Amino acid sequence: MKVTDSGMLEELYWNSLFDIEDVVGWLAPSRKTATIVEVGCGYGTFTVPIAKKSGGDIYTFDVEPSMIEVAQRNARRAGLSNITFGLRDVLEQGTGLESNSTDMVLLFNILHCSEKRMFLEEASRILKDGGIVAIIHWRKDIPTPRGPAINSRPDKGQILAASAGLHLHYRGNSKILEPYHWGIQLVKEMAI
Ligand SMILES: C[S@@+](CC[C@H](N)C(=O)[O-])C[C@H]1O[C@@H](n2cnc3c(N)ncnc32)[C@H](O)[C@@H]1O
Repeated sequence: MKVTDSGMLEELYWNSLFDIEDVVGWLAPSRKTATIVEVGCGYGTFTVPIAKKSGGDIYTFDVEPSMIEVAQRNARRAGLSNITFGLRDVLEQGTGLESNSTDMVLLFNILHCSEKRMFLEEASRILKDGGIVAIIHWRKDIPTPRGPAINSRPDKGQILAASAGLHLHYRGNSKILEPYHWGIQLVKEMAI
């Protein structure tokens, strides 16, 4: 089931709505994040620069064939071969990846839905102990030129409520990602 209001604007315009470098810098992909999974790649706006910076294995999924095609084209143009693309409805089918296999999961601009917990549950399942789920979304404290309805945009409280009991813990890492987004990272910690 495709998330409501998750269709994309024109590619160049969409990309202009982010400081992509700032977002990638906040994730700090490195050898420590060898395996990264992204749910809902869209045009590959983040997939491609993250794959470039991390050099590790990226698994990215989208329910829309046209999005997979464009993201694959962008990866090809960037000369990248470390991205595996999956045409998949992650709400209906999950990621199909092994449990405890992933260092980082990206849920970018997808949690403005009532199925937040399903995405977070799948993220927690595939993350290794110590792995991170990184979420970014449109801010609701300022006017933004685009984005889903203000009252559907998730805030920190809603994300923490949706992840209760999933071993995903907030350790103080949230950030305004100028101009229009914010992000939060939760760490999977089994012992707590
Ligand atoms: C608003 S776009 C965000 C794209 C990208 N994450 C970004 O921030 O640039 C949301 C994407 O999620 C995809 N999507 C929606 N529901 C999905 C589902 N159930 N499984 C996988 N992808 C989904 C949409 O097709 C769309 O490409």
